[in-house]
Amino acid sequence: MTGRIDVLTIFPAYLDPLNLSLVGRARRDGLLEIDVHDVRGWTSDRHRTVDDTPFGGGAGMVMRPDVWGLALDEVLARGEQTTRTLIVPSPAGELLRQPLAEELAALVADGGQLVFACGRYEGIDARVAAYYDAREDVSVREVSIGDYVLNGGEVAALVIIEAVARLLPGVIGNPESLVEESHGVAGLLEYPVYTKPPVWRDLDVPPVLRSGDHGRVSDWRRARAVERTARRRPDLLAALGGAKVRPVRPADVHDVADVAARTFPLACPPGMPAADVVAFVTEHLSPTAVRRYLRDRRRVLLLAEVAGAVVGYTMLVQEKPRDADVASVVVARPTAELSKCYVLPEHHGSGVAGELIAASLRAAEARGLVSLWLGVNQHNARAQRFYSRSGFVRVGTRRFRVGDRWEDDYVMEHPLRAIG
Ligand code: 6GU
Repeated sequence: MTGRIDVLTIFPAYLDPLNLSLVGRARRDGLLEIDVHDVRGWTSDRHRTVDDTPFGGGAGMVMRPDVWGLALDEVLARGEQTTRTLIVPSPAGELLRQPLAEELAALVADGGQLVFACGRYEGIDARVAAYYDAREDVSVREVSIGDYVLNGGEVAALVIIEAVARLLPGVIGNPESLVEESHGVAGLLEYPVYTKPPVWRDLDVPPVLRSGDHGRVSDWRRARAVERTARRRPDLLAALGGAKVRPVRPADVHDVADVAARTFPLACPPGMPAADVVAFVTEHLSPTAVRRYLRDRRRVLLLAEVAGAVVGYTMLVQEKPRDADVASVVVARPTAELSKCYVLPEHHGSGVAGELIAASLRAAEARGLVSLWLGVNQHNARAQRFYSRSGFVRVGTRRFRVGDRWEDDYVMEHPLRAIG
């Protein structure tokens, strides 16, 4: 059995869009019954008055409870509904999110009735919500569609009805699109989408989407969804739980190389020629390079995952320092270089880098190392502060070649208590 939706308003024409598109077709096909009622039909005075001045004073007008009571009693008594839910759109209500839309859709799908009471002016006399809330056979929900103010509840009702109706069986032609939204990238913002032509105004479609490699396409989409969510809605990411650190596996080489290619340029000094940066990434940070590192027993690669996307990684290289300047200040043995600690910029400050460092220190201790050292660019004060906070101490300097330029690094070291 399918339920019904009633909307009460003094501007029925505001709800005309409910005749359009998917919702309009669902109504015509009998998948969903929606009736819109003019509240003025329940007035009895010559001027069809619906509002009056507020008790206690203040600006604006308040909608009268007597008119609303007659209207709601009649509309709530229609048909034999399994449940009756009175929805009062209000900027002071609970926020509409997908789970609330799903809850309301389940009510309608089970034969329930949703009645929208759209107020204008300063709102509806508060006794209306209180009265129906006290009734055994009615639940009342005050619902806001966001933190901004509209002139009345009509547009909010349109929004809520569209969010609910598209979840009802048969309303959306391809239910796959619902599955993608609620499971594919659960709790994340949608990834960007592309169609033909493949080149438009010099802008290419990301090549991975045309590669035919479904695994890499889905990894890429997840990475972009997590990137957008971290930038625009960090609150959503935090709700999904923090980062997970684990060893890099062969299947991760593309994801790790992508993180490297996105982060390395940001750690380079401003004056470095772009061609040198590209050459360095291709030679040392490509999927092939990562695959080579994974086969090298002296190296430990760990990655951090947020919501299933790789957002950072570290690499330890266990060997005697080759650089004479480093060897002269890092004298503890056995030691290893923390050669990479990269975290995507949108995840800086979220604790991911700290977890990667902590896991790297544990891995080094488990290998019986007594120190970990690293080189950090002398201009990169942010990274130096971070390594200091993580327990690294500045012990010297070294020079580091990128392209045909020498970069000056600080050498920092972290003492370890070897395990076993
Ligand atoms: Cl439901 N009503 C009004 N008037 N303003 C709003 C709203 C609702 N949600 C956000 N702003």
